[in-house]
Amino acid sequence: MRTQVGIVGAGPAGLMLSHLLHLEGIESVVLEARSREYVEQRVRAGVLEQGTVDLLRDTGLGDRLRREGLVHHGIELRFDGRGHRIALSDLTGGRSIFIYGQQEGDVDVTCDVIAGCDGFHGVSREAVPEGSLRSFQHEYPFAWLGVLAAVAPSTDELIYAYHDRGFALHSLRSPQISRLYLQVDPGEDVDDWPDDRIWEELRTRLHADGWTLADGPILEKGITPLRSFVAEPMQYGRLFLAGDAAHIVPATGAKGLNLAVADVRVLAEAIAGWYRTGSTDLLDGYSARCLRRVWRVQEFSSSMSSMLHRFPDDDGFRGRVQRAQLEWISRSEAAARSLAENYVGLPLT
Ligand code: PHB
Repeated sequence: MRTQVGIVGAGPAGLMLSHLLHLEGIESVVLEARSREYVEQRVRAGVLEQGTVDLLRDTGLGDRLRREGLVHHGIELRFDGRGHRIALSDLTGGRSIFIYGQQEGDVDVTCDVIAGCDGFHGVSREAVPEGSLRSFQHEYPFAWLGVLAAVAPSTDELIYAYHDRGFALHSLRSPQISRLYLQVDPGEDVDDWPDDRIWEELRTRLHADGWTLADGPILEKGITPLRSFVAEPMQYGRLFLAGDAAHIVPATGAKGLNLAVADVRVLAEAIAGWYRTGSTDLLDGYSARCLRRVWRVQEFSSSMSSMLHRFPDDDGFRGRVQRAQLEWISRSEAAARSLAENYVGLPLT
């Protein structure tokens, strides 16, 4: 089979790239190892930055988003039993985030360009010869136990809770489905977390005066380590890596999917430029242009992670520094604005 662009992986990055190329009149074939059912059922990221939402809308993908997407103008930081609202939209000239849960044989392909959009464990990055990429990584001494529950969220806005027993997050997927997370140790087994224990721990860590957490049937649960990873450059010859195939950020900043979309936007533009003009300038600049954003987001995601999680080896010093930082963000508009700007997402440049 002959096509212009071969795309490995039918996740958000691969599908979005195929769509963007199609709008430019460029043909692509998307290869996916898993079944359509698997891809559509998989629980995915749910927080979209303003720029990601704008791109979906501008490229004709806004219909379901308009019907089902939930706009959020703030988030809450909760510690010492009290909530502190970060007014995202007020602090960023009206930008917001959107909660938008996406659940949705052998072929030989000959193509001009390959886009590796097949995630951290995919084959694309592995196909690059040893020594051609440099990778940077950092493992955090904690993981997230994530649950999807059939219960109306107990909050209108996301709650990021700092607690002596560890971090907790109350998020959502829809008016009927809650998404909740607990910090756990990386080696923990999900079987040690029966539903009752999960709800009790969530109630403890998310506690605030005058607030209660509604519980309900847990539909899914799983443990994911938090890690940072970047492969440089994000290119080898005509193979371009995008999204998790090139970089992983810890989940605390809710940035993974948004970074992937930013990559493929740059890549689609570069591929279109090359077909149009024959110049490889934009393709050659792809990696450097993406990596600037990637490292900005690494810094934001790792500092959010370090501020909110309990470190297993903390003798009390780090905890006091964390609390001082949380208090500062609650008190200083400049500090809150810095968080808000990063959280709603920096403009695509
Ligand atoms: C989620 O809803 O899955 C979610 C929300 C916020 C985060 C991470 C994950 O920071």
